[in-house]
Amino acid sequence: MQTVSSVLDAISDVGRDATRGGYSRGVFTPAESSLREWFTAEAETRGLAVETDRNGILWAWWDVTAGRDGALVTGSHLDSVPGGGAFDGPLGVASALVAVDLLRERGVRPQRSLAVAVFPEEEGSRFGVSCLGSRLLTGTLDPDHVRSLTDPDGITFADASRAAGLDPAHLGRDEEAIARIGDFVELHVEQGRGLIDLDSAVAIGSTMLGHGRWRLSITGQGNHAGTTLMADRADPLVAAAQVVLAVRKAAAEQDGARATVGRLQPVPGGTNVIASRVELWLDVRHEDDAVTAALLERIHGQAQKICAFEGCRATLTEESRSGTVHFDGALQRTLGNALGRSFPGAPTLPTGAGHDAGILGAVAPTAMLFVRNPTGVSHSPEEFVERDDADAGATALADVLDDLL
Ligand code: GLV
Ligand code: MN
Ligand code: MN
Repeated sequence: MQTVSSVLDAISDVGRDATRGGYSRGVFTPAESSLREWFTAEAETRGLAVETDRNGILWAWWDVTAGRDGALVTGSHLDSVPGGGAFDGPLGVASALVAVDLLRERGVRPQRSLAVAVFPEEEGSRFGVSCLGSRLLTGTLDPDHVRSLTDPDGITFADASRAAGLDPAHLGRDEEAIARIGDFVELHVEQGRGLIDLDSAVAIGSTMLGHGRWRLSITGQGNHAGTTLMADRADPLVAAAQVVLAVRKAAAEQDGARATVGRLQPVPGGTNVIASRVELWLDVRHEDDAVTAALLERIHGQAQKICAFEGCRATLTEESRSGTVHFDGALQRTLGNALGRSFPGAPTLPTGAGHDAGILGAVAPTAMLFVRNPTGVSHSPEEFVERDDADAGATALADVLDDLL
């Protein structure tokens, strides 16, 4: 039987980013498409029947004699942030495949169908909206809006999904897929220091921090770097620099808040050119959704003032937003009991990251398992999972699935 690490070893060269380091596996790029093909082959080797639904979610079915409705679903995503680590997403997918192997080895005869699912564009790295696949499935996004989303090269989601073999006309809330999800359990690499501090290989997820993404477009006067006197400038990059500092200060003054500017794009972007426009992307998170909204308002107000002082204009657009999610209490208890065999007293842990399990919680009971990351670093090439911990995670997932089947 394969270990989780040996399953992941097969994709260790896919989507490596020589410039940024780590992996860049944007949805529907050659790298992510090749991972989807790899997943399909791995699932078929195990005798699982793979289907792609109308939102591009892959479903690999172990046994459908009990019908597809109300199935037990596990899985995660294969896309990555730019220059991300090897485990955020793929660990959950590989662990799900190994968990199926373990269940078979144990001779488990499922009383309900089990599917391993792979959700596209969980990171929102290419089209801006995180958990795009699960949001489409649950109907929280307008399909027209999604079709018109563009990537940094101006390619629309409609065109990219068509090139990946989907029919973009059929994107949107999928009642058939919703009916399939009886329970959803996502295993994921832990993305902070939680499990290091708890000295445990595995934890059960308790909550997912509310978060949102906004895009601030700052327009100024594009001009010549040599001929424009300093006093005559309306430089959006100077305004953006001050907005970045204001974001940091506003979040630091709000207990429990996190706010980040991780992406900034001056247009046209020339050394001897004063930018005419800067696109700035903002990520704000807090457990209290009202605090997130208030913090955003404060940042927006400060950005308006900063931009006006610099002779620029700022326009804020929301890209995505999710409230804080409390994972299903009964399912958490089931996980706790199931882990009683392999991980008695497994701790519970909140997560500051976003996950499809949080979005799917709107249509079915969902739960998460986290596996220790000894670096405590994620969304970076330094993200890591020890081989033994990865196998411990797959065993924990198999125990949970065993009980739920
Ligand atoms: C995804 O990992 C996120 O938290 O944005
Ligand atoms: Mn991530
Ligand atoms: Mn993830």
